[in-house]
Amino acid sequence: MKRERLDKVLANMGWGTRKEVKQLVKQGLVTVNGNAVADPGQHVIPEQDDIAVDGHPLAYRRWIYIMLNKPSGVISATEDNRHRTVVDLLPLEWANRVHPVGRLDIDTEGLLLLTNDGQLSHNLLSPKKKVEKEYYARIAGIVQPEHVRRFAEGITLDDGYVTLPAKLEILSAAAVSEVNVTITEGKFHQVKRMFAALGLKVVYLKRIRMGPLVLDETLVPGAYRELTDAELAALKGEDR
Ligand code: URA
Repeated sequence: MKRERLDKVLANMGWGTRKEVKQLVKQGLVTVNGNAVADPGQHVIPEQDDIAVDGHPLAYRRWIYIMLNKPSGVISATEDNRHRTVVDLLPLEWANRVHPVGRLDIDTEGLLLLTNDGQLSHNLLSPKKKVEKEYYARIAGIVQPEHVRRFAEGITLDDGYVTLPAKLEILSAAAVSEVNVTITEGKFHQVKRMFAALGLKVVYLKRIRMGPLVLDETLVPGAYRELTDAELAALKGEDR
C-alpha cells in the first residue's frame, strides 16, 4: 500500500484545494489515528490510517469502479475547456480520482465505466482482448438483412479501414429502424461510420454492454452507481 501526502489525500477526497486542506490542518481539525496533525505534508497510508476531519472519519477506498449512464452533451474525458465532462457528474471524492474507460461521442448515451484501476482499464481497451461493446441504435432508414450480412463480413470505412466482423440485430425495420450492434473494436465514431458506409444514418446511439458489464437500466441518463462485487468479478474474469 502506498504512502501519500495527507493534504493530497484530503484534496482528492473532496475536502477542498490543497490550500484549503492546509487551513483545516492548521485549525487542528484533522486527526490521524486519533492525534491532531500539525504537518499537512505528513505521509499516511489511506487504506490503513484512521483519518478524520472535524470528527468525520474518512471512508477511503483504494479502488473505485463506477457505472455511469452517460447523458448526451457531456464529453468522455476528465477535462475540457468548452463542455462538461463525465467526471463533472460525479461527487468530488470520485471525480478527482477516476478516468473513463474508453470514449463515447458527446451525443452518445449509455454505459461508461469510470475507474482508477489502470490495469483493468488497459485490459478492457486492449485491441487484443476484443472485448464486446454492444449498442442500441436508431437508424434513419430501413435496416435490412443485407446490412446484417455486411456487418458480419466487416465493413470498409471512409478511411479504407476494414472493420472486424460485427453483429447487427434488427429489432424493428421502419422509417426509423431500431437495432442492436456488437463490435469488438473501438475506432473513432465506429458505429456511426459503419452505418454511414452503408448509406444509413445513426440518429440515436446508446451503449448497453461492455464485455460482461450490462448497463443498469434503472440509472437515468446522468445517474451512476458503484459496481457490485459480482459485476466487478465478472469484469476481472474478462481481464485475462
Ligand atoms: N461508435 C460511435 O460511432 N460512437 C460512439 O460513441 C461509440 C461507438
